[in-house]
Amino acid sequence: MTMRKSERRKKRRMLKQRKQVAALAALVLAALGFVALLALVNRPADEGQAVTVEVQPADLSPEAEAGEALFKANCQACHGPNAAGTKLGPPLIHDIYNPGHHSDDAFYLAAATGVRQHHWPYGDMPAQPQVSREEVGRIIRFVRELQEANGIVTKRYGG
Ligand code: HEC
Repeated sequence: MTMRKSERRKKRRMLKQRKQVAALAALVLAALGFVALLALVNRPADEGQAVTVEVQPADLSPEAEAGEALFKANCQACHGPNAAGTKLGPPLIHDIYNPGHHSDDAFYLAAATGVRQHHWPYGDMPAQPQVSREEVGRIIRFVRELQEANGIVTKRYGG
């Protein structure tokens, strides 16, 4: 008799645990779905296509001005005057490259190791080893000040 009772209790406990696991799994799935949806909704409309943009000039700080000269010498051939984009590379004055989506580290990494094609149809970006880390820092100032002057501010999730 007592054996049966304890067995029944055990079974009930197991059933309860199984329900809890199922509830947790459902919760995790729902959270994942939500994040995926958010990423999809926030995806820039022109991602995946070559684009050039209109860039308003900015009142540049001295460091950004130094960065502009370095940008012209090393990056402009692909990314265009004022980083507005060309047939060879994307505009960096673009919401995709806002500081929340592409931090300064993304710029250091791009120059140091190059970039595999992923956002656009242009192909890979080759590494730019002739540009020092310090110089990339100035280029970043230039790009960030131009971004800000063009209303591109920190956003998360592909924005
Ligand atoms: C030969 C052409 C070329 C040159 C030169 C070039 N880029 Fe690029 N760059 C590209 C292309 C193409 C991409 C886009 C790759 C993609 O996302 O599909 C890119 C992407 C980037 C990105 C985005 C990285 C990421 O994580 O998605 C940054 C930042 C960048 N370039 C910065 C620079 C800087 C700074 C310089 C100059 C020091 C430079 N590029 C020079 C072609 C070039």
